[in-house]
Amino acid sequence: MKLEGRVAIVTGAAQGIGQAIAGKLAAEGATVVVADINGAGAAKVAAAIPGASAYTIDIADEAQVKGLVADTVAKHGKIDVLVNDAAIVPYKEWDDIDFAEWRRIMAVNLDGTFLMCRHVSDEMRTKGYGRIVNICSNVIVAGTPNLAHYAASKGGVFGLTRVLATELGKYGITANQVAPGLTASEGVMAGKFVESFDFVQMLQSIPRRGVPADIAPAVAFLASEESGWITGQMLVADGGHTRH
Ligand SMILES: NC(=O)c1ccc[n+]([C@@H]2O[C@H](COP(=O)([O-])OP(=O)(O)OC[C@H]3O[C@@H](n4cnc5c(N)ncnc54)[C@H](O)[C@@H]3O)[C@@H](O)[C@H]2O)c1
Repeated sequence: MKLEGRVAIVTGAAQGIGQAIAGKLAAEGATVVVADINGAGAAKVAAAIPGASAYTIDIADEAQVKGLVADTVAKHGKIDVLVNDAAIVPYKEWDDIDFAEWRRIMAVNLDGTFLMCRHVSDEMRTKGYGRIVNICSNVIVAGTPNLAHYAASKGGVFGLTRVLATELGKYGITANQVAPGLTASEGVMAGKFVESFDFVQMLQSIPRRGVPADIAPAVAFLASEESGWITGQMLVADGGHTRH
């Protein structure tokens, strides 16, 4: 197993892609902290994963992020893997995006990812080992409509991850990202653009609907020791929708 003895935090793991990632990392041997603003959902997911625990957190709140890091280290002694999956996926037409809505998305998707990287990487440095995997999106290159603020936030994650890789390599920490394409998560299926699956499927090389389990193996690889010579990279998992 790739992650035997490793401690992993997965944010946004109460449902969707994050839930699949949490399950996959645990299946590879990791002790997983299922961290989500939806505490009840996180508890339900953690209960179904051997050795996992749930943690209720708003990643946009620095005090809560510090609490998660401190509590995880107190309980497990270290944090080897951080997967920043939590985000708001907000389909909104350009005309409906005002500054308050823009800030709401930035606060979670970009500020929250920064806060988690800030405090977890500080802890990883003390141990000289770490794997950070940020969840980006293929919308940063696809120009997908109704996602201007979301695409901008994920573009920020893209740039942040590359710089982290550059600055943290000397401490034994890699930073990479996985960019899913349209994926049938609970969040997306509850949105009003569900019919976009038919269109996107036509653009994919593999003509079927993407599901959370399609994303998790890419994350598990980048979270593992064997990916140690790979950093600053973006692995696109979108059935061949986009190419880079
Ligand atoms: N589903 C897709 O089509 C798709 C495509 C590309 C990228 N992504 C990315 O994949 C990741 C997961 O997306 P998903 O589709 O599974 O979403 P989802 O909406 O199904 O799940 C997101 C999870 O994040 C949690 N969350 C939201 N705000 C939070 C906060 N402030 N603090 C802590 N947790 C919070 C939610 O409670 C939820 O459990 C996101 O980063 C998203 O941007 C998704």
